[in-house]
Amino acid sequence: MTADLTPVQMATILDEAGQTVAQEYRDLVLVCDRGTVPRGLSGVLYRNGPGRLERGGRRYGHVFDGDGHILRLAFDEGRVGYTNRFVRTQGLVAEERAGRLLYRGLGTNLPGGLPANLLRLTIKNVANTNVIFHANRLMALWEGGLPYCLDPVSLETLGAEDFDKGLRNRFSWLDRRLAGVMPFAAHPCLDEDTGELHNFGLLLGRKHRLMLYRLGPDGDLAEPLAHPLDRLSFVHSFLLTRRYLVFLLPHVDFDVPRSLLGLSTWADSLRVATDRPMDALLIPRGGGPPQTLETVPGFVFHIAHGYDREDGAVVLDLAHYRDYPPLNRLDILLAHDNPYTTPKPLRLVIDPGRGSCETQPLSPCPAELPRVAPGGFGKPRRYIFSIGAPAERRAYYLSCIQRLDTLTGETIHHEFSPDLPGEPVLVPEGPHEAGWVLTLVYRAQERRTDLVILRSEDLGVQAVLPLPHSVPPGFHGSWLDLRDSR
Ligand SMILES: [Fe+2]
Repeated sequence: MTADLTPVQMATILDEAGQTVAQEYRDLVLVCDRGTVPRGLSGVLYRNGPGRLERGGRRYGHVFDGDGHILRLAFDEGRVGYTNRFVRTQGLVAEERAGRLLYRGLGTNLPGGLPANLLRLTIKNVANTNVIFHANRLMALWEGGLPYCLDPVSLETLGAEDFDKGLRNRFSWLDRRLAGVMPFAAHPCLDEDTGELHNFGLLLGRKHRLMLYRLGPDGDLAEPLAHPLDRLSFVHSFLLTRRYLVFLLPHVDFDVPRSLLGLSTWADSLRVATDRPMDALLIPRGGGPPQTLETVPGFVFHIAHGYDREDGAVVLDLAHYRDYPPLNRLDILLAHDNPYTTPKPLRLVIDPGRGSCETQPLSPCPAELPRVAPGGFGKPRRYIFSIGAPAERRAYYLSCIQRLDTLTGETIHHEFSPDLPGEPVLVPEGPHEAGWVLTLVYRAQERRTDLVILRSEDLGVQAVLPLPHSVPPGFHGSWLDLRDSR
């Protein structure tokens, strides 16, 4: 049990899990170590995450700075073919050529202190956060810049995508100096009724703006809309309902001088005021004035799902942090006595008519990287799948795959400790949020990664397929179902 692992042991495992991926494979057939692959599984699981966390003998200062590395697991009649490839971003190619760090990262400054970092505004686009397929484009996403398009079979990098110059920064000279392109965040939302993909980008400048994007089913970008922000904030994901785009905006202070001077990293210059309530910004999709309401103090990376209620309220299920988690400070995250750094499932019911926000804790068990079954756009979903931990766990060591029943509050776990599972992706079989849960598990003892298939109803193991190597724990991915296209 993880409760028996000391903070030092957990930190050692996390450190070892971050070793650089040294080899790229092309359609290597994986063999089951245990169980069998369901023959009905027909499609491709794409995953994104950091594949390299060091350069020139220097460890990156933050897991968010790892260079994007894509996994492709192609399922066909019980066969699973494995392909992996780095996203060859402009920054990665330049640094490989130089053999040393050339760019600052979110939590990584260049060696050499102030002279080396002074006024270096560009953060490397590492394309490491999510990978999605829309309108025949496979795109690796990172919230601070452009998406990178990839070949969906070979994963060869095709280049940065600005949608026919639609993501070029069109604001003032100073704004363009700060950012030449408008960022395309890593958590787009699909309107399954229309086939439109919605997304946003937090564009910092002389005035801060929330850029709103809509890609048609054909992949064409509609004219981006700019929502002006009257203060700085930090948004990682949003919710799309039939009526609204919903953003949760925490209060944020950013020490611009220290960051510009290179005295601290961008991440260390950021202070999220978790003692102040986050604002919910509701932007009506059908037009009309946006509305802002106070919600709860704290911070949110991920909204699991949400929907419009018939009485006009909006329901959001999310992973809520009481304190902002310092992801580059394992001494704080892995401490056994810190109850506040682990995220907990929380429901917000926001009523724009009454201007109210009600909260409902969904479970005492920590949960992150939450996912629900696809195919239920605009409707309530009963089950939330996530990585997590038993309720008594204080350390931010999320070694379980779990399923939360939002009707009963019951959480069932599959404990992997000391191993580390990644985001669970549900592939449904039939209409009842049931099917297969796919996840990649880092094996701490063997220093290897396995593809694990669990049954959604009891999280029992259906199959385990070892990969030929170790892959650092990743962030997000998606399932491309091929059953419909046959
Ligand atoms: Fe995310």
